[in-house]
This record gives sequence, C-alpha cells and structure tokens, in this order.
Amino acid sequence: MSVRLFALSLLCAFTTSMAPVAWAQAKNTDTGYVPQRGQAGKDVIWIPTPQGLIDKMLDVARVGSGDLVYDLGAGDGIIAITAAGRYGARAVGIEYNPQMADFARRKVAEAGLSDRVRIITGDIFKEDFSAATVVTLYLYPDLNMRLRPTILAMKPGTRVVSHAFTMGDWEPDETVTDQTARAFFWVVPAQVEGEWTLNGMDGGPVKLSFRQLFQQVGGMATIQGVSQPLVGVRLRGNELSFKMSLPDRQMVSFTGRVSGKNISGTLNTPTANLSVDARRN
Ligand SMILES: C[S@@+](CC[C@H](N)C(=O)[O-])C[C@H]1O[C@@H](n2cnc3c(N)ncnc32)[C@H](O)[C@@H]1O
Repeated sequence: MSVRLFALSLLCAFTTSMAPVAWAQAKNTDTGYVPQRGQAGKDVIWIPTPQGLIDKMLDVARVGSGDLVYDLGAGDGIIAITAAGRYGARAVGIEYNPQMADFARRKVAEAGLSDRVRIITGDIFKEDFSAATVVTLYLYPDLNMRLRPTILAMKPGTRVVSHAFTMGDWEPDETVTDQTARAFFWVVPAQVEGEWTLNGMDGGPVKLSFRQLFQQVGGMATIQGVSQPLVGVRLRGNELSFKMSLPDRQMVSFTGRVSGKNISGTLNTPTANLSVDARRN
C-alpha cells in the first residue's frame, strides 16, 4: 500500500467509525461481489462516507428536488441514493471500478430509485459532469486540485461539497462536521475580475473595477473622476452585492446578478431604488 493510500485508510478509520456496516460490506447475493472498505480504486481507495455526514453535506448544499447531484467516485452509490431517496434530487454517480458500479446499481434498484439515480462506469477525469447543480467528492487533496479548474468553469452557483479534503487556496464557504468527520462546502463563483461600466444612475456612468480571488472580491468605483473603494463586496455564485458612496457622500447599496458580461440589479439610494446594469468593458 502506498503512503497516501495508507494515510487515507488511517484518516478514514477515524472519520467513518459511524458508517453503517450494512452499506460497507453488504454481500451482493446475485454476483457474490463484496466490496471491502479500503479496497484499491483507480485513483483512490473505497471508503464510504458515513450517513450522518452525507446528510450534513446535502443539507449544507441545500439539495432539493430541482437538483442534479453528481458524486465523483461513487463507491456503493450511497451519496447518490441519499440525494434521491431523502432529498428528492436526481443523481448520477461516476465509479471507475465496474464491479463496484454494478454493486451500486443493484443498491439503487433495491432502493427503488432506478428512475432517478444513474451510475456511470467511468473515470471522473473523462466523464462530463458539467450538468450537475451539486458535486460531491470524497477523493484526495491532489485529485480535488486536478478537478478544481473543471469545477471552477462550471455554472456559477454550482454547489460543491468535499468530504475531508479541501481545494488548496480556494477557501470553503462553510464547513460541516459529524462526529469526527468533516466536509467542506463551496459555491462556484461568477467571474467578475476586470473593468465594468455601470449605467442607470443620475450623474453619469460609474466605472467599476473588481479584483477577485475565487469568491473573495474587492474593488473600486470611479464616479465623476473620483475613485473610492467598494465596501462589503459579497459574491455568492452569481449574486453580487456591495456598497459605495456617491460624490455627495451618500452611501448606496447594490444587489444584483452576474450573467456573463452583464451585471444587472438594483441600486438602493436613500431616495429611490434604481434598476441598473453594468457591462464588462
Ligand atoms: C473514498 S471512495 C468514496 C465513495 C463515495 N463517494 C462516498 O463518499 O461514500 C472513492 C471511490 O472513487 C472510486 N474511484 C477512484 N478513482 C476513480 C476515478 N478516476 N474515476 C471514478 N471513480 C474512481 C473508487 O473506486 C472509490 O469507490
């Protein structure tokens, strides 16, 4: 066993002590195939996420009937089955090991969820999961990092939850724990870095300049030639809000949505709520 397989086994021994044994070692009587906790996989071993943490992961991602959940490295399908069975979502699990994928399909059928859960036998680095509204992971830090560019290119607002492992310098939006297990949650941010022109305000256009590190955004507003920092910029998926002061020193607040090269929303001033639009320069 390599050092990193050994390290994950040790970590999992601590984090999965509450995992239901029925899931981990249930014998499939049709084929005789019995997946073993810690068995080798293409890029990572199989250890199931404990049910308590799965519930917290799907809760923090606010999974509902409108969601399409992809579990990357699906194992016995427990995350996909929970997403469909308890949260009403549609779900897809991608599992490289064909025997494990068959085992998961049988679990899906036993749960009566074959119409809402699909298990793909495939490689997470080759299969297309761009349709997901929620992505779940229980991999390794370096695999998360390999997937990160693909995840960041997904539709803004896509929710991502990873059991145990982070995504480098992309800070999680939230962390959830169950017993000794922990998961990290992110919302894929829209791309706002760069220069924009905001129209719709009396007194002429406002030049907006955003700097961005994932969901962390700062910026400047230039109004009638005077520049000042934006205050309290918040970006969650494609939802953007900030405050700025006008030349007469009144503070106004913006809330709106980013859609490609357009940001549209409402500017709340002390006297009116204005519909405004910004275009990327
Ligand atoms: C740690 S287990 C997690 C299982 C499940 N997601 C869960 O949390 O309960 C990782 C799973 O990924 C599978 N796997 C490893 N490399 C893979 C790859 N490149 N593509 C698809 N599945 C892979 C393994 O066979 C294993 O079942």
